[in-house]
Amino acid sequence: MQKIREWKRILLPYEQAVEELKVKLKSIRNEFRDMNEYSPIEFVTGRVKKISSILEKASRSNIPEDRIEEEIEDIAGIRIMCQFVDDIYRVVKLIRKRSGKDLEVVYEKDYIKNNKESGYRSYHVIIRYPVQTALGEKKILAEIQIRTLAMNFWATAEHSLNYKYKKNIPENIRERLRKAAEAAYQLDKEMLKIRNEIITAQRIFEEKSNSVYEIANNIHLLSLFGYKDEAKEFQEKFDKIWKTGSLEELQKLSETIKFTIQKYHAFD
Ligand code: GTP
Ligand code: MG
Repeated sequence: MQKIREWKRILLPYEQAVEELKVKLKSIRNEFRDMNEYSPIEFVTGRVKKISSILEKASRSNIPEDRIEEEIEDIAGIRIMCQFVDDIYRVVKLIRKRSGKDLEVVYEKDYIKNNKESGYRSYHVIIRYPVQTALGEKKILAEIQIRTLAMNFWATAEHSLNYKYKKNIPENIRERLRKAAEAAYQLDKEMLKIRNEIITAQRIFEEKSNSVYEIANNIHLLSLFGYKDEAKEFQEKFDKIWKTGSLEELQKLSETIKFTIQKYHAFD
């Protein structure tokens, strides 16, 4: 009982670290959303390892009780979920950029490029994080797991099965899990392809609307300058291509109008 009470006190800074890291990571997401930009972070969760799991892991890994805080790196655990695989590497970069500021990256494990035998995939970043306590600063270790929604779905299911079978999952189920992991991997690959398509579509849409904006402005300018015939001619050309025209056609028309304006300006 004495020991359990002791553990509760030891775990307080870990609770604080998890809460702080969750706030910080969620605000990265909110900042992207505020700027109307795509956020590589979809959502963030966190937990402090249960005392029973800490003791179980220590005894399984032969860690003496006075070494637990240095040897068990995931007493504080943060999980960042992303929509697409390349978002994971963007998030890793964001975390690395903070190393030496409000946290320190200790090391990284890429279980995406090197997936585990089980089929597990995720990117892990182990950090050292300073917590300000009533007794001063305490630096604790925390594990940040960054994964896609598909990776998370798989890991959560596998974790439950491990729990059910007390880490002795029957071989036939293990084999199915490996197949499911492969399916999750294929899903992530397909989604990544769609993502690139969406980004390209958004870029073309953006550039098209910029061209239309320029064309409309410059035609207006021409007619203001008194070049009514040219303005009318360009307006007719624009009317022909604006619905069905390609980005290139619109950009070409825009350049021609700009060139014409410059030409007439030169006469002034
Ligand atoms: P433990 O696996 O926790 O004993 O630590 P470790 O030192 O071996 O580090 P590792 O990077 O292998 O695992 C850290 C954490 O990643 C685990 O606590 C899990 O949350 C997660 N993890 C690693 N491997 C698997 C796996 O095969 N399945 C699932 N579901 N999660 C895993
Ligand atoms: Mg392990």
